[in-house]
Amino acid sequence: MNDETKVDKTRRNLVVATSVVGGAAGVVAAAPFVASMWPSERAKAAGAPVEADISRLAPGEMAVIEWRGKPVWIIRRTKEMIDSLKAVAPRLTDPASKSSEQPKYAENEHRSAKPELMVMEGVCTHLGCSPQLKSAEAKAEMGADWAGGFYCPCHGSKFDFAGRVFRGAPAPTNLKVPPYTLVSDNTVLIGEDQEKKGA
Ligand code: FES
Repeated sequence: MNDETKVDKTRRNLVVATSVVGGAAGVVAAAPFVASMWPSERAKAAGAPVEADISRLAPGEMAVIEWRGKPVWIIRRTKEMIDSLKAVAPRLTDPASKSSEQPKYAENEHRSAKPELMVMEGVCTHLGCSPQLKSAEAKAEMGADWAGGFYCPCHGSKFDFAGRVFRGAPAPTNLKVPPYTLVSDNTVLIGEDQEKKGA
């Protein structure tokens, strides 16, 4: 079976996207830009890689893709988001992700193959809840030093925009980065390692 037949190419996998960062006025809006179906039952059962078309994902927006029954988040990170990763490092449990799970090409500060593209499993490493996106504007709720990231409402774990957990949280490790391949600027193949594709 070649790659073409293994991959779920139906493009029905992009389920929802939410605006993380507002427009010029700095307004945070929940603005789903696309809603569509889950991958086919056959593709899911086979655990097939899932191809995500992110051509409509604007900087600061997040898409949620289902892969092997789990939500996978894709964020086109803004410069502010990338810059925040350095700033929060002293407050993290595992800033260099030495005890956390990610593929080789994500063993770096931004935990991704490309700094501007975050690909992350949206499953808390404590007891498996799905954390919520909290923009940098959520300081009233998250604290004055909050630079944006994710909050797990189950037991209060906080994560930055690279899925790295803040100290003092019950989650023991950073969020997991799934294997993936950047097929092009606008296409991410989730579930297949970049290295295996020779990318
Ligand atoms: S499951 Fe996320 S903090 Fe407990």
